[in-house]
Amino acid sequence: MTSPSSSSPPAAAATAPPVLEARSVFRFRTVDGHDVPIVRDVSFVLGRGEFATIMGPSGSGKSTLLHLLAGLERPSAGAVLVDGEDLGAGDEEQRAAVRRRRIGFVFQFFHLLPDLTVEENVTLPLRILGQNPNKHRGRIDSLLDLLGVQKLKQRLPSALSGGEMQRVSIARALSTQPPLVLADEPTGNLSSKAGEEVVALLRSVREKLGTTILLVTHNPRDAAAGDRVMFLHDGVLRPDSELRGGPFGVADVFARLQELGI
Ligand SMILES: Nc1ncnc2c1ncn2[C@@H]1O[C@H](COP(=O)(O)OP(=O)(O)OP(=O)(O)O)[C@@H](O)[C@H]1O
Ligand SMILES: [Mg+2]
Repeated sequence: MTSPSSSSPPAAAATAPPVLEARSVFRFRTVDGHDVPIVRDVSFVLGRGEFATIMGPSGSGKSTLLHLLAGLERPSAGAVLVDGEDLGAGDEEQRAAVRRRRIGFVFQFFHLLPDLTVEENVTLPLRILGQNPNKHRGRIDSLLDLLGVQKLKQRLPSALSGGEMQRVSIARALSTQPPLVLADEPTGNLSSKAGEEVVALLRSVREKLGTTILLVTHNPRDAAAGDRVMFLHDGVLRPDSELRGGPFGVADVFARLQELGI
């Protein structure tokens, strides 16, 4: 006889909150004495292991939105929840704690520390959490292998190509095993070949580690790599504009941009 619990999913899985939820998020900025909306009523939910992209032209509010989702800025209205925790509920120190434990960030300009080796850069977030990197050596080595930078670990950033620097910064973003990685134009400073490699690596990170990844870009080719592609225009993310079931061809993204008049 089977026990009742064997036929139903574990309670924790059934009730696990989404990794990222934006609830009617607004952000205003004061420009020439007027309050201007930069992000307007953005709502969406990302589940565990999703690879989503947000495509938008320059100035559409992508970086502002990503900063709100990371808790680097506070919404003027609305809420952001990471793993069910409301980033607006606490003070700056509590938001920073959520960021350090749950969110990895990948930037367009890498932001590696120039005086630290690749390995020291990658393990820095662990040290900031007060953890001894030596206790994570096997896992960090696997991460360096996954990103193809194992042989570079004693080098300084100045001795790396742009593509290598970005792969190192992805390893750094993953060193604390966050459920969520946010990437702001991660290919914006790379050749198109190195950019394609970086996006392919982000997809394989999702496959191998199950990390939820949100990438924002103005590049239709990068956007096409998402399982879901959302479109941001003048700070508005229209739910009916989303493509689902990717990865897509770049022509699919262009076609949707044309339909939306972006
Ligand atoms: N500190 C600020 N004060 C006033 N306006 C700002 C500020 N930061 C950004 N903006 C404006 O907000 C809008 C959105 O900026 P944001 O940087 O989020 O756009 P983006 O989509 O990331 O652009 P890009 O593709 O060029 O990186 C722009 O019109 C920008 O001029
Ligand atoms: Mg930007």
